[in-house]
Amino acid sequence: MKELNFGLVGYKFMGKAHSNALARLGMFFDCDAVVNKKCICGRDEEWVAQAAVKLGWEGYETSWEKLVSRKDIDVIDITAPSNMHKSIAIAAAENGKHVFCEKPLALNLADAREMLETVKRAGVKHQIGFNYRFAPAIQLAKQIIDAGKLGAIRHVRASYLQDFITDPEFPLVWRLQKSICGSGSLGDLGAHFIDLSRFLVGDFKSVMGIQKTFIKSRPLVERMEGLTANARADAPRGEVDVDDGTVFISEFENGALGVFEATRFSAGHKNDLFIEVSGDRGSVRFSFERMNELQFYSADDEEGLQGFRLIQASEGGHPYMSHWWPVGHVIGYEHTFVHEMYEFVQAIANDTPTCPDFSDGVECSRIIEAVELSAQRRAMVDIAAL
Ligand SMILES: NC(=O)c1ccc[n+]([C@@H]2O[C@H](COP(=O)([O-])OP(=O)(O)OC[C@H]3O[C@@H](n4cnc5c(N)ncnc54)[C@H](O)[C@@H]3O)[C@@H](O)[C@H]2O)c1
Repeated sequence: MKELNFGLVGYKFMGKAHSNALARLGMFFDCDAVVNKKCICGRDEEWVAQAAVKLGWEGYETSWEKLVSRKDIDVIDITAPSNMHKSIAIAAAENGKHVFCEKPLALNLADAREMLETVKRAGVKHQIGFNYRFAPAIQLAKQIIDAGKLGAIRHVRASYLQDFITDPEFPLVWRLQKSICGSGSLGDLGAHFIDLSRFLVGDFKSVMGIQKTFIKSRPLVERMEGLTANARADAPRGEVDVDDGTVFISEFENGALGVFEATRFSAGHKNDLFIEVSGDRGSVRFSFERMNELQFYSADDEEGLQGFRLIQASEGGHPYMSHWWPVGHVIGYEHTFVHEMYEFVQAIANDTPTCPDFSDGVECSRIIEAVELSAQRRAMVDIAAL
Protein backbone atom coordinates (compact mmCIF):
# COMPACT_ATOMS: atom_id res chain seq x y z
CA MET A 1 0.00 0.00 0.00
CA LYS A 2 1.09 3.56 -0.71
CA GLU A 3 2.78 5.30 2.24
CA LEU A 4 2.46 9.03 2.91
CA ASN A 5 5.02 10.72 5.10
CA PHE A 6 3.55 13.79 6.77
CA GLY A 7 5.49 16.84 7.94
CA LEU A 8 3.53 19.10 10.31
CA VAL A 9 4.38 22.75 10.98
CA GLY A 10 3.11 23.87 14.42
CA TYR A 11 2.47 21.86 17.56
CA LYS A 12 0.05 23.89 19.63
CA PHE A 13 -3.76 24.12 19.27
CA MET A 14 -4.20 23.00 15.66
CA GLY A 15 -0.93 21.07 15.73
CA LYS A 16 -2.43 18.85 18.43
CA ALA A 17 -5.77 18.57 16.59
CA HIS A 18 -4.03 17.45 13.39
CA SER A 19 -1.62 15.10 15.20
CA ASN A 20 -4.58 13.47 16.93
CA ALA A 21 -6.49 13.18 13.64
CA LEU A 22 -3.58 11.49 11.88
CA ALA A 23 -3.11 9.10 14.82
CA ARG A 24 -6.80 8.08 14.89
CA LEU A 25 -7.14 7.79 11.08
CA GLY A 26 -5.75 4.29 10.57
CA MET A 27 -7.50 2.96 13.70
CA PHE A 28 -11.00 3.86 12.54
CA PHE A 29 -10.88 4.34 8.75
CA ASP A 30 -9.74 1.97 6.00
CA CYS A 31 -7.54 4.38 4.09
CA ASP A 32 -5.95 3.63 0.73
CA ALA A 33 -2.61 4.89 2.03
CA VAL A 34 -0.67 4.42 5.24
CA VAL A 35 0.03 7.70 7.03
CA ASN A 36 3.39 8.09 8.77
CA LYS A 37 3.75 10.94 11.25
CA LYS A 38 7.28 11.55 10.09
CA CYS A 39 8.33 14.98 11.26
CA ILE A 40 6.95 17.88 13.29
CA CYS A 41 8.36 21.39 13.06
CA GLY A 42 8.57 24.32 15.47
CA ARG A 43 11.11 27.06 16.15
CA ASP A 44 12.14 26.18 19.68
CA GLU A 45 14.16 22.95 19.82
CA GLU A 46 13.36 22.03 23.41
CA TRP A 47 9.61 22.53 22.93
CA VAL A 48 9.34 20.88 19.52
CA ALA A 49 11.38 17.88 20.73
CA GLN A 50 8.91 17.45 23.61
CA ALA A 51 5.97 17.90 21.23
CA ALA A 52 7.35 15.22 18.90
CA VAL A 53 7.32 12.69 21.74
CA LYS A 54 3.97 13.74 23.19
CA LEU A 55 2.14 13.97 19.87
CA GLY A 56 3.74 10.83 18.44
CA TRP A 57 6.03 12.08 15.64
CA GLU A 58 9.13 10.15 14.51
CA GLY A 59 11.33 13.24 14.51
CA TYR A 60 11.42 17.02 14.48
CA GLU A 61 12.89 20.01 12.65
CA THR A 62 13.35 23.58 13.83
CA SER A 63 13.24 25.06 10.33
CA TRP A 64 10.21 24.75 8.06
CA GLU A 65 12.47 25.52 5.07
CA LYS A 66 14.39 22.35 5.88
CA LEU A 67 11.21 20.35 6.40
CA VAL A 68 9.66 21.26 3.04
CA SER A 69 12.85 20.34 1.15
CA ARG A 70 13.25 16.91 2.76
CA LYS A 71 13.09 14.10 0.19
CA ASP A 72 11.36 11.73 2.61
CA ILE A 73 8.34 14.02 3.17
CA ASP A 74 5.28 13.71 0.87
CA VAL A 75 2.77 16.03 2.58
CA ILE A 76 3.16 19.34 4.40
CA ASP A 77 0.44 20.14 6.93
CA ILE A 78 0.44 23.80 8.01
CA THR A 79 -0.87 24.72 11.48
CA ALA A 80 1.32 27.78 12.04
CA PRO A 81 -0.35 31.21 12.35
CA SER A 82 -1.80 32.71 9.18
CA ASN A 83 1.18 34.97 8.33
CA MET A 84 3.26 31.80 7.75
CA HIS A 85 0.78 29.98 5.47
CA LYS A 86 1.81 31.52 2.16
CA SER A 87 5.57 31.07 2.30
CA ILE A 88 5.34 27.51 3.68
CA ALA A 89 2.61 26.40 1.23
CA ILE A 90 4.37 27.85 -1.79
CA ALA A 91 7.75 26.36 -0.86
CA ALA A 92 6.12 23.00 -0.12
CA ALA A 93 4.30 22.92 -3.47
CA GLU A 94 7.43 23.97 -5.36
CA ASN A 95 9.17 21.01 -3.71
CA GLY A 96 6.40 18.72 -5.01
CA LYS A 97 4.67 18.17 -1.64
CA HIS A 98 0.91 17.91 -1.23
CA VAL A 99 -0.31 20.68 1.07
CA PHE A 100 -2.94 20.86 3.79
CA CYS A 101 -3.33 24.37 5.20
CA GLU A 102 -5.36 25.68 8.11
CA LYS A 103 -7.84 28.50 7.54
CA PRO A 104 -7.86 31.35 6.70
CA LEU A 105 -5.73 30.46 3.68
CA ALA A 106 -3.66 33.66 3.80
CA LEU A 107 -3.41 37.17 5.23
CA ASN A 108 -5.27 38.61 2.25
CA LEU A 109 -6.90 37.76 -1.08
CA ALA A 110 -3.84 38.49 -3.25
CA ASP A 111 -1.71 36.06 -1.22
CA ALA A 112 -4.46 33.43 -1.26
CA ARG A 113 -4.65 33.66 -5.05
CA GLU A 114 -0.87 33.32 -5.35
CA MET A 115 -1.01 30.17 -3.20
CA LEU A 116 -3.77 28.69 -5.38
CA GLU A 117 -1.85 29.43 -8.59
CA THR A 118 1.30 27.83 -7.17
CA VAL A 119 -0.33 24.57 -6.03
CA LYS A 120 -2.15 24.28 -9.36
CA ARG A 121 1.05 24.88 -11.34
CA ALA A 122 2.91 22.34 -9.18
CA GLY A 123 0.16 19.76 -9.70
CA VAL A 124 0.01 18.84 -6.01
CA LYS A 125 -3.11 18.11 -3.94
CA HIS A 126 -4.26 20.94 -1.71
CA GLN A 127 -6.90 21.19 0.99
CA ILE A 128 -7.93 23.85 3.51
CA GLY A 129 -8.98 23.20 7.11
CA PHE A 130 -12.67 24.06 7.10
CA ASN A 131 -13.26 21.23 9.56
CA TYR A 132 -16.85 22.12 10.50
CA ARG A 133 -17.98 20.91 7.07
CA PHE A 134 -17.10 17.45 8.32
CA ALA A 135 -19.51 17.35 11.26
CA PRO A 136 -21.96 14.56 10.32
CA ALA A 137 -24.94 16.86 11.04
CA ILE A 138 -23.60 19.44 8.56
CA GLN A 139 -23.09 16.71 5.94
CA LEU A 140 -26.68 15.61 6.60
CA ALA A 141 -27.90 19.20 6.16
CA LYS A 142 -26.12 19.26 2.80
CA GLN A 143 -27.85 16.02 1.75
CA ILE A 144 -31.25 17.43 2.77
CA ILE A 145 -30.67 20.67 0.83
CA ASP A 146 -29.30 18.88 -2.25
CA ALA A 147 -32.35 16.57 -2.25
CA GLY A 148 -34.52 19.70 -2.58
CA LYS A 149 -36.30 19.13 0.74
CA LEU A 150 -36.05 22.83 1.69
CA GLY A 151 -37.40 24.00 -1.68
CA ALA A 152 -36.01 27.31 -2.95
CA ILE A 153 -33.46 28.66 -0.47
CA ARG A 154 -34.49 32.08 0.86
CA HIS A 155 -32.42 32.80 3.97
CA VAL A 156 -29.14 31.96 5.71
CA ARG A 157 -28.39 33.19 9.21
CA ALA A 158 -25.15 32.33 10.91
CA SER A 159 -23.10 33.44 13.87
CA TYR A 160 -19.86 32.45 15.53
CA LEU A 161 -19.68 33.81 19.06
CA GLN A 162 -16.85 33.62 21.58
CA ASP A 163 -16.00 35.68 24.68
CA PHE A 164 -12.32 35.02 25.38
CA ILE A 165 -11.18 38.65 24.96
CA THR A 166 -13.98 40.55 26.74
CA ASP A 167 -11.53 41.48 29.54
CA PRO A 168 -9.67 44.64 28.34
CA GLU A 169 -6.55 43.30 30.10
CA PHE A 170 -6.52 40.09 28.05
CA PRO A 171 -3.14 40.23 26.27
CA LEU A 172 -2.35 41.19 22.70
CA VAL A 173 -2.12 37.64 21.29
CA TRP A 174 -1.31 37.05 17.60
CA ARG A 175 -5.03 36.74 16.82
CA LEU A 176 -5.30 40.50 17.52
CA GLN A 177 -2.39 41.58 15.29
CA LYS A 178 -3.20 42.15 11.62
CA SER A 179 0.36 41.43 10.44
CA ILE A 180 0.03 37.87 11.84
CA CYS A 181 -3.67 37.00 11.51
CA GLY A 182 -4.78 39.21 8.59
CA SER A 183 -8.27 39.72 9.96
CA GLY A 184 -9.81 39.49 13.44
CA SER A 185 -13.13 37.91 14.34
CA LEU A 186 -14.15 37.93 10.68
CA GLY A 187 -11.14 35.98 9.35
CA ASP A 188 -10.84 33.71 12.38
CA LEU A 189 -14.48 32.89 13.16
CA GLY A 190 -16.41 34.28 10.20
CA ALA A 191 -14.25 32.24 7.81
CA HIS A 192 -16.00 29.09 9.10
CA PHE A 193 -19.58 30.26 8.56
CA ILE A 194 -18.67 31.85 5.22
CA ASP A 195 -17.42 28.44 4.15
CA LEU A 196 -20.44 26.61 5.59
CA SER A 197 -22.76 29.02 3.78
CA ARG A 198 -20.95 28.43 0.49
CA PHE A 199 -21.06 24.67 1.12
CA LEU A 200 -24.78 24.60 1.92
CA VAL A 201 -26.22 27.45 -0.16
CA GLY A 202 -23.72 28.49 -2.85
CA ASP A 203 -21.74 31.55 -3.82
CA PHE A 204 -22.08 35.02 -2.33
CA LYS A 205 -23.07 37.84 -4.70
CA SER A 206 -22.72 40.95 -2.55
CA VAL A 207 -22.06 41.94 1.06
CA MET A 208 -22.36 44.92 3.38
CA GLY A 209 -20.73 44.95 6.81
CA ILE A 210 -19.81 46.89 9.92
CA GLN A 211 -16.65 46.14 11.91
CA LYS A 212 -15.67 47.34 15.35
CA THR A 213 -12.58 47.23 17.56
CA PHE A 214 -13.92 47.70 21.08
CA ILE A 215 -10.57 47.60 22.94
CA LYS A 216 -7.89 49.53 21.05
CA SER A 217 -4.81 48.55 23.07
CA ARG A 218 -3.84 45.60 25.23
CA PRO A 219 -0.82 44.45 27.29
CA LEU A 220 1.84 42.60 25.31
CA VAL A 221 1.50 38.85 25.71
CA GLU A 222 3.94 36.81 27.79
CA ARG A 223 2.58 33.29 27.16
CA MET A 224 -0.36 31.85 25.25
CA GLU A 225 -1.89 28.38 24.89
CA GLY A 226 -5.01 27.73 22.86
CA LEU A 227 -7.34 30.66 23.62
CA THR A 228 -5.83 31.46 27.03
CA ALA A 229 -2.91 33.82 27.59
CA ASN A 230 -1.24 35.95 30.23
CA ALA A 231 0.79 39.14 30.41
CA ARG A 232 3.10 40.53 33.11
CA ALA A 233 1.47 43.12 35.39
CA ASP A 234 3.85 45.84 34.15
CA ALA A 235 3.69 44.81 30.47
CA PRO A 236 3.69 47.67 27.94
CA ARG A 237 0.61 47.90 25.72
CA GLY A 238 0.32 47.45 21.97
CA GLU A 239 -2.32 48.39 19.42
CA VAL A 240 -5.17 46.06 18.42
CA ASP A 241 -5.51 46.59 14.67
CA VAL A 242 -8.16 44.01 13.77
CA ASP A 243 -11.91 43.77 14.31
CA ASP A 244 -13.21 42.52 17.66
CA GLY A 245 -16.63 42.02 16.11
CA THR A 246 -18.10 42.03 12.59
CA VAL A 247 -21.69 41.90 11.39
CA PHE A 248 -22.74 41.76 7.75
CA ILE A 249 -25.60 41.05 5.44
CA SER A 250 -25.38 39.43 2.02
CA GLU A 251 -27.15 38.37 -1.12
CA PHE A 252 -26.36 35.00 -2.68
CA GLU A 253 -26.10 34.14 -6.38
CA ASN A 254 -29.27 32.01 -6.02
CA GLY A 255 -31.18 34.98 -4.62
CA ALA A 256 -31.08 33.97 -0.94
CA LEU A 257 -30.40 36.60 1.74
CA GLY A 258 -27.86 36.18 4.55
CA VAL A 259 -27.32 37.70 8.03
CA PHE A 260 -24.01 37.06 9.82
CA GLU A 261 -22.27 37.90 13.11
CA ALA A 262 -18.71 37.06 14.23
CA THR A 263 -17.44 38.23 17.61
CA ARG A 264 -15.19 37.40 20.54
CA PHE A 265 -17.21 39.74 22.77
CA SER A 266 -20.39 37.76 23.29
CA ALA A 267 -20.23 37.09 27.04
CA GLY A 268 -21.24 33.54 27.89
CA HIS A 269 -20.68 32.12 24.41
CA LYS A 270 -17.51 30.03 24.42
CA ASN A 271 -17.36 28.51 20.95
CA ASP A 272 -20.86 28.97 19.63
CA LEU A 273 -21.09 28.38 15.87
CA PHE A 274 -24.66 28.46 14.57
CA ILE A 275 -26.14 28.26 11.09
CA GLU A 276 -29.71 28.08 9.85
CA VAL A 277 -30.82 27.73 6.23
CA SER A 278 -34.45 28.38 5.36
CA GLY A 279 -36.22 27.54 2.12
CA ASP A 280 -39.83 27.86 1.07
CA ARG A 281 -40.51 24.19 2.00
CA GLY A 282 -38.35 23.76 5.10
CA SER A 283 -35.39 24.73 7.25
CA VAL A 284 -32.29 23.16 8.81
CA ARG A 285 -30.57 24.43 11.96
CA PHE A 286 -27.17 23.48 13.40
CA SER A 287 -25.43 24.59 16.58
CA PHE A 288 -21.89 23.37 17.20
CA GLU A 289 -22.52 23.24 20.96
CA ARG A 290 -24.92 20.35 20.15
CA MET A 291 -22.94 19.14 17.17
CA ASN A 292 -24.46 15.66 17.01
CA GLU A 293 -27.90 17.13 16.36
CA LEU A 294 -29.60 18.65 13.33
CA GLN A 295 -32.97 20.36 13.51
CA PHE A 296 -35.13 19.96 10.41
CA TYR A 297 -38.52 21.46 9.62
CA SER A 298 -40.47 20.23 6.60
CA ALA A 299 -43.65 21.88 5.29
CA ASP A 300 -44.41 18.48 3.73
CA ASP A 301 -45.10 16.94 7.17
CA GLU A 302 -48.70 16.16 8.06
CA GLU A 303 -50.71 19.25 9.00
CA GLY A 304 -51.07 19.56 12.75
CA LEU A 305 -47.87 17.58 13.33
CA GLN A 306 -45.50 20.05 11.75
CA GLY A 307 -42.59 21.48 13.71
CA PHE A 308 -38.82 21.31 13.97
CA ARG A 309 -37.75 17.71 14.52
CA LEU A 310 -34.49 16.89 16.27
CA ILE A 311 -32.37 14.41 14.34
CA GLN A 312 -29.61 12.71 16.30
CA ALA A 313 -27.05 12.58 13.46
CA SER A 314 -25.13 9.73 15.06
CA GLU A 315 -26.61 6.62 13.46
CA GLY A 316 -24.65 4.28 11.26
CA GLY A 317 -26.28 5.70 8.12
CA HIS A 318 -25.19 9.25 8.87
CA PRO A 319 -22.04 10.51 7.17
CA TYR A 320 -18.81 9.13 8.73
CA MET A 321 -20.63 7.59 11.74
CA SER A 322 -20.25 3.96 10.69
CA HIS A 323 -16.48 4.37 11.21
CA TRP A 324 -16.84 5.18 14.90
CA TRP A 325 -18.90 3.62 17.68
CA PRO A 326 -22.18 1.69 17.89
CA VAL A 327 -25.35 3.65 17.01
CA GLY A 328 -26.02 6.74 19.14
CA HIS A 329 -22.52 6.94 20.63
CA VAL A 330 -21.85 10.59 19.93
CA ILE A 331 -18.66 12.15 18.63
CA GLY A 332 -16.94 15.51 19.23
CA TYR A 333 -14.83 18.40 17.91
CA GLU A 334 -11.70 16.33 17.27
CA HIS A 335 -13.57 13.92 14.99
CA THR A 336 -14.16 16.67 12.40
CA PHE A 337 -10.38 16.79 11.90
CA VAL A 338 -10.19 13.02 11.42
CA HIS A 339 -12.90 13.24 8.74
CA GLU A 340 -11.16 16.04 6.83
CA MET A 341 -7.83 14.18 6.98
CA TYR A 342 -9.53 11.00 5.75
CA GLU A 343 -10.83 12.82 2.66
CA PHE A 344 -7.41 14.40 2.06
CA VAL A 345 -5.51 11.12 2.34
CA GLN A 346 -8.01 9.31 0.10
CA ALA A 347 -7.74 12.05 -2.54
CA ILE A 348 -3.95 11.74 -2.58
CA ALA A 349 -4.00 7.93 -2.59
CA ASN A 350 -6.54 7.70 -5.43
CA ASP A 351 -5.60 10.88 -7.31
CA THR A 352 -9.10 12.33 -6.95
CA PRO A 353 -10.06 15.98 -6.26
CA THR A 354 -9.77 17.37 -2.74
CA CYS A 355 -12.58 19.36 -1.16
CA PRO A 356 -12.56 22.00 0.25
CA ASP A 357 -9.42 23.01 -1.62
CA PHE A 358 -7.41 26.22 -1.94
CA SER A 359 -9.98 27.62 -4.40
CA ASP A 360 -12.51 27.46 -1.52
CA GLY A 361 -9.90 29.24 0.60
CA VAL A 362 -9.59 31.95 -2.07
CA GLU A 363 -13.38 32.39 -2.24
CA CYS A 364 -13.52 32.75 1.53
CA SER A 365 -10.72 35.35 1.49
CA ARG A 366 -12.59 37.17 -1.28
CA ILE A 367 -15.72 37.47 0.86
CA ILE A 368 -13.68 38.51 3.93
CA GLU A 369 -12.01 41.24 1.91
CA ALA A 370 -15.34 42.36 0.40
CA VAL A 371 -16.85 42.69 3.89
CA GLU A 372 -13.81 44.70 5.06
CA LEU A 373 -14.05 46.96 2.00
CA SER A 374 -17.77 47.50 2.51
CA ALA A 375 -17.19 48.38 6.18
CA GLN A 376 -14.58 50.97 5.15
CA ARG A 377 -16.81 52.41 2.41
CA ARG A 378 -20.02 51.99 4.41
CA ALA A 379 -21.61 50.58 1.25
CA MET A 380 -22.61 47.31 -0.42
CA VAL A 381 -19.76 45.56 -2.30
CA ASP A 382 -20.23 43.17 -5.23
CA ILE A 383 -18.05 40.06 -4.86
CA ALA A 384 -17.43 40.11 -8.63
CA ALA A 385 -15.52 43.41 -8.19
CA LEU A 386 -12.73 41.64 -6.29
N1 LIG B 1 -9.94 24.89 11.91
C1 LIG B 1 -10.13 25.51 13.07
O1 LIG B 1 -11.19 25.43 13.67
C2 LIG B 1 -9.01 26.34 13.65
C3 LIG B 1 -8.96 26.58 15.04
C4 LIG B 1 -7.89 27.30 15.54
C5 LIG B 1 -6.93 27.82 14.70
N2 LIG B 1 -7.02 27.60 13.35
C6 LIG B 1 -5.99 28.13 12.43
O2 LIG B 1 -4.82 27.35 12.62
C7 LIG B 1 -3.65 28.16 12.53
C8 LIG B 1 -2.85 28.01 13.83
O3 LIG B 1 -3.65 28.41 14.93
P1 LIG B 1 -3.39 27.81 16.39
O4 LIG B 1 -4.54 28.23 17.22
O5 LIG B 1 -3.04 26.38 16.31
O6 LIG B 1 -2.10 28.67 16.82
P2 LIG B 1 -1.11 28.37 18.04
O7 LIG B 1 -0.54 29.70 18.41
O8 LIG B 1 -1.77 27.54 19.08
O9 LIG B 1 0.02 27.46 17.35
C9 LIG B 1 0.83 27.96 16.32
C10 LIG B 1 2.01 27.04 16.15
O10 LIG B 1 2.79 27.51 15.04
C11 LIG B 1 4.17 27.49 15.43
N3 LIG B 1 4.89 28.49 14.60
C12 LIG B 1 4.70 29.81 14.55
N4 LIG B 1 5.59 30.37 13.69
C13 LIG B 1 6.34 29.36 13.20
C14 LIG B 1 7.45 29.30 12.30
N5 LIG B 1 7.95 30.40 11.74
N6 LIG B 1 8.00 28.07 12.04
C15 LIG B 1 7.50 26.96 12.63
N7 LIG B 1 6.46 26.97 13.49
C16 LIG B 1 5.90 28.15 13.78
C17 LIG B 1 4.14 27.82 16.92
O11 LIG B 1 5.33 27.39 17.54
C18 LIG B 1 2.94 26.98 17.35
O12 LIG B 1 3.32 25.65 17.60
C19 LIG B 1 -4.14 29.58 12.27
O13 LIG B 1 -4.08 29.84 10.90
C20 LIG B 1 -5.60 29.57 12.74
O14 LIG B 1 -6.42 30.48 12.06
C21 LIG B 1 -8.02 26.85 12.83
